Amino acid sequence: MKSYSVKELLKKQPIGEHVEVNGWVKTFRSNRFVALNDGSIIHNLQCVIDFENFDEDLLKQISTGAALKVTGTLVESQGRGQSVEIQATAVFVHGTADPETYPIQPKKHSLEFLREKAHLRVRTNTFSAVMRVRSALSFAVHQYFQQKGFYYMHAPIITGSDAEGAGEMFRVSTLDPKSPPLDDSGAIDYSQDFFGKETNLTVSGQLEAETYAMGLGNVYTFGPTFRAENSNTSRHLAEFWMIEPEMAFYDLDANMDLAEEFIKSILSYVLENCKDDLEFLEKRLLDEEKSKPQNERSDMALIEKLKFIVDNNFKRVTYTEAIEILRNCKPNKKKRFQFPIDEWGADLQSEHERFLVEKHFKCPVILFDYPANIKAFYMRLNEDGKTVRAMDVLFPGIGEIVGGSQREERLEVLQQKIKDLNIDEKELWWYLDLRRFGTAVHSGFGLGFERMVQFATGMGNIRDVIPYPRTPQNAEF
Ligand code: 4AD
Ligand code: MG
Repeated sequence: MKSYSVKELLKKQPIGEHVEVNGWVKTFRSNRFVALNDGSIIHNLQCVIDFENFDEDLLKQISTGAALKVTGTLVESQGRGQSVEIQATAVFVHGTADPETYPIQPKKHSLEFLREKAHLRVRTNTFSAVMRVRSALSFAVHQYFQQKGFYYMHAPIITGSDAEGAGEMFRVSTLDPKSPPLDDSGAIDYSQDFFGKETNLTVSGQLEAETYAMGLGNVYTFGPTFRAENSNTSRHLAEFWMIEPEMAFYDLDANMDLAEEFIKSILSYVLENCKDDLEFLEKRLLDEEKSKPQNERSDMALIEKLKFIVDNNFKRVTYTEAIEILRNCKPNKKKRFQFPIDEWGADLQSEHERFLVEKHFKCPVILFDYPANIKAFYMRLNEDGKTVRAMDVLFPGIGEIVGGSQREERLEVLQQKIKDLNIDEKELWWYLDLRRFGTAVHSGFGLGFERMVQFATGMGNIRDVIPYPRTPQNAEF
């Protein structure tokens, strides 16, 4: 007898066939109707059990959360709400789930409650849908770059460098924290540590990706990155996944073109391949927004919003233009921004980014040519001497989703910058070598994968789009 997934049975509908299916009980009604789900699809399969023909002890073991194997004939459904169902001839209980203690009961649970049950939350409709979309999006990332001839490069997780120069790093050490070896000056002697130097978890694979772009041409990384920033927001994780393409001979314009095409491509993939999940998530979002005041609800439903991104050009605006818009906008004049915009040079906060995207331009925006002193050391200095070839892609509801730049390829300019920022040049000897041997114009960017999953699924909190979120004061599971 053939074993099918719920998805196969619902999509292929082998009517009349004697089949076997495994899954978990979503609900069990009237001692007769089991809604079975195995995670393959958002919809459940109805299994009809003639309780007269089954042992009462067996029926007692069937409750929400129990794992079953059901055997029977697939028939057209007699009832409404589903097109096919199984007339069960045999049921095997793999494992029961005591209704007194199993936390995922068939009722509405808050997302906060489910975060504490992260090991079981993927059994809910919402989380199974989100995680299937997440999986599809990662596949789409690889498909896009592979089809374009990019090579997948694995950047190291443990590194001695601070790519962003922001110092928000998790130390990696095997020294005894209670009595670490000290040097003559009384400081911890890292030369006795595992790697013989100070090391940390990577904040970005960019610098290493640059070395590979300078040999393989076009590469991308897709891996976990770590930031020890104490940000408790709905858009920050201490461990998040980043996609970082790096391209030899690309200038900033080519970089922006690639970012836009890439984003549209992966969202198209999800629109085509995750229809059932997106429809479910769209309804979920509409429901959730009913409890919000009118002005906080989105103008577009989820699927419409994704289509809008795919079908419209992103607006490209310089930082300088953006500052003019922000300086003169109503919320700034009425002092409604938490961080008022007074002058050129100010760093943009998420409230400003979201104003530009959601209220002013009403479409995704790519801001470029930022002031040098609010951006990382490796960005290429413009002729004006005060701005750099940086770009951020800003998205509705999210703010910054991509950060990237054309890289400084001129050795002396880069050395000067490193000096100005008091970065230890010795640590970056290999990075500077790239500018000594066959240097060339090159560019790249980083897409925060979870922020993209948030956007594609309409989930408001980044903790709900990664299986096990790592945030300040929280590393359970
Ligand atoms: O803007 P960031 O810091 O840029 C870089 O790391 C560059 N090295 C990228 C490159 O040019 N190769 O980070 C890139 C993106 C952000 O736009 C954001 O989407 C995401 O990574 N990101 C985070 N996502 C979740 N939690 C955090 N703490 C994040 N920090 C950045
Ligand atoms: Mg950034």
